Amino acid sequence: MRVIINCAMSADGKIALRTRRQTQISNEEDKLRVHKLRNSVDAILVGIETVLSDDPKLTVNTKYVKKPRHPIRIVLDSSGRTPRSARVLDGTSETLIVTNERCRRTFPNAETIRCGRRQVDLHRLIPLLARRGVRRLLVEGGSKVIWSFLESRLADEVNIFVGSMAIGGERAPTPAGGAGAPDEKSIVALRLKNMKAVGSGVLLTYEVVK
Ligand SMILES: NC(=O)c1ccc[n+]([C@@H]2O[C@H](COP(=O)([O-])OP(=O)(O)OC[C@H]3O[C@@H](n4cnc5c(N)ncnc54)[C@H](OP(=O)(O)O)[C@@H]3O)[C@@H](O)[C@H]2O)c1
Repeated sequence: MRVIINCAMSADGKIALRTRRQTQISNEEDKLRVHKLRNSVDAILVGIETVLSDDPKLTVNTKYVKKPRHPIRIVLDSSGRTPRSARVLDGTSETLIVTNERCRRTFPNAETIRCGRRQVDLHRLIPLLARRGVRRLLVEGGSKVIWSFLESRLADEVNIFVGSMAIGGERAPTPAGGAGAPDEKSIVALRLKNMKAVGSGVLLTYEVVK
């Protein structure tokens, strides 16, 4: 399976406000690129904190893609905190809420997959998704989930759109958060594959060195 990370950060390396609330970083050209990318994958994955702070719909917008495919929506949510009102549960496309093995919650318009003892075990999840026909997985964040995919070396590609703005704030999230590399040998090496101007911003594309 090819795992593609995509996120938008400010020029000072932040992906949201210090309150962790979403802010507009992408421009119109980048949104077009992201919706085309979403349309090219089999599933789009985010962490529960992104659902709680941004309430994303995780669908392909017909404004950008005329006849969208409907990638599966996936939320990593160990203890089942996804609110019933979340937009990912609106029934517009197939949705998987991935919890740990102890969680008993079920969700309207979504299937629950139980995988892992505490947090979701990504090494077990990937083959489960592959068996469901997922060949291309888009990881859209947030910070902790992106770090998990990088540190486990399960991600293959990283796309970072750099918007022309500074958000600041020591506590504002960055593209990769979580526990971070404890030492130099745990740092994840990336190989720059491409960089290009996208409207007023820049798109950086990296391959993860494994
Ligand atoms: N600019 C962008 O492109 C962009 C895109 C998306 C999000 N964001 C921003 O990112 C922020 C949210 O990021 P975040 O780091 O707080 O949270 P997150 O990565 O969205 O979600 C993290 C949570 O997912 C759950 N999880 C389950 N299994 C996991 C695993 N194996 N690895 C990691 N997490 C796992 C954990 O909660 P449980 O233990 O409860 O399961 C964990 O705390 C928001 O501010 C949002 O606006 C920005």
